[in-house]
Amino acid sequence: MSELSVDHLLGIKYLNEKDIHLIFETADHFKEVINRPIKKVPSLRDITIANLFFENSTRTRLSFELAEKRLSADVINFSAASSSVKKGETLIDTVNNILSMKVDMVIMRHPNPGAGVFLSKHVDASIINAGDGAHEHPTQALLDSFSIRERLGEVGGKKIVIVGDILHSRVALSNIFALTLQGAEVKVCGPKTLIPKYIEKLGVQVETDLKKALAWCDVANMLRVQNERMEISYFPSTREYTQQFGVNKKLLDSLDKEIVIMHPGPINRGVEITSDVADSNQAIILDQVQNGVAVRMAVIYLLASKIKR
Ligand code: CP
Repeated sequence: MSELSVDHLLGIKYLNEKDIHLIFETADHFKEVINRPIKKVPSLRDITIANLFFENSTRTRLSFELAEKRLSADVINFSAASSSVKKGETLIDTVNNILSMKVDMVIMRHPNPGAGVFLSKHVDASIINAGDGAHEHPTQALLDSFSIRERLGEVGGKKIVIVGDILHSRVALSNIFALTLQGAEVKVCGPKTLIPKYIEKLGVQVETDLKKALAWCDVANMLRVQNERMEISYFPSTREYTQQFGVNKKLLDSLDKEIVIMHPGPINRGVEITSDVADSNQAIILDQVQNGVAVRMAVIYLLASKIKR
């Protein structure tokens, strides 16, 4: 039987192309399962999973919890805002206390880049990174590629532009790793101040003219400006940002082909994308959310099969 090359999912940079194909084939199966009248399989009845969220989340937290329940795992949820972290407890102490309750797998979102890697070296459980600061968000990139594959047949050879706040985006970094690994061509587009200087070393090109980027691509992945990670202003005003880097229907209609629009959420409607684009048939934003459950079921299932019991 095929298995993943890793014991944790800490970032796309630790995966190989075979791992991604295995995750997608497994997710195809689970997508069929969750569209049945009975949406549940008994695969993980002997597994307990802790969801630890030290940062806000809507989609990722609910999607992981649903994926775990669809696999029949036992689930416990932890939110830092209502926990003893507020009384000064360390990350390792918090997690070791949770693990002493016989937990097999930890899903963690944390504001610090590398928090998942750190945890994987100090605790005896399988770790899935659900977003670590501005570093990686591997399951988001997997569900994004899975959604491109679903809409366009394959990811290899496709032209993808990632638009917006690349500098603060874990979604951008994980997508760059995942897309280039599968043989897609990748460009990033945004204000120069929001594009890291090292980005071309990752095998992507920079395009600062949005119209040229859209005319080139098959898929545009629109990112939110992450004001919460900014201590200074990176562009003059939101209005000017939208004028230069926002996608609206008029802009899309001016292209000579129909491109696919993606967004990881949460959307700032009217800033990076207008409502008529977000709600159009060109956008696969809700398909991404739906596919997130099947992809996370696949990741959890494949990592759980490597846990020694
Ligand atoms: N896409 C994403 O990570 O959304 P949440 O922050 O709501 O989980």
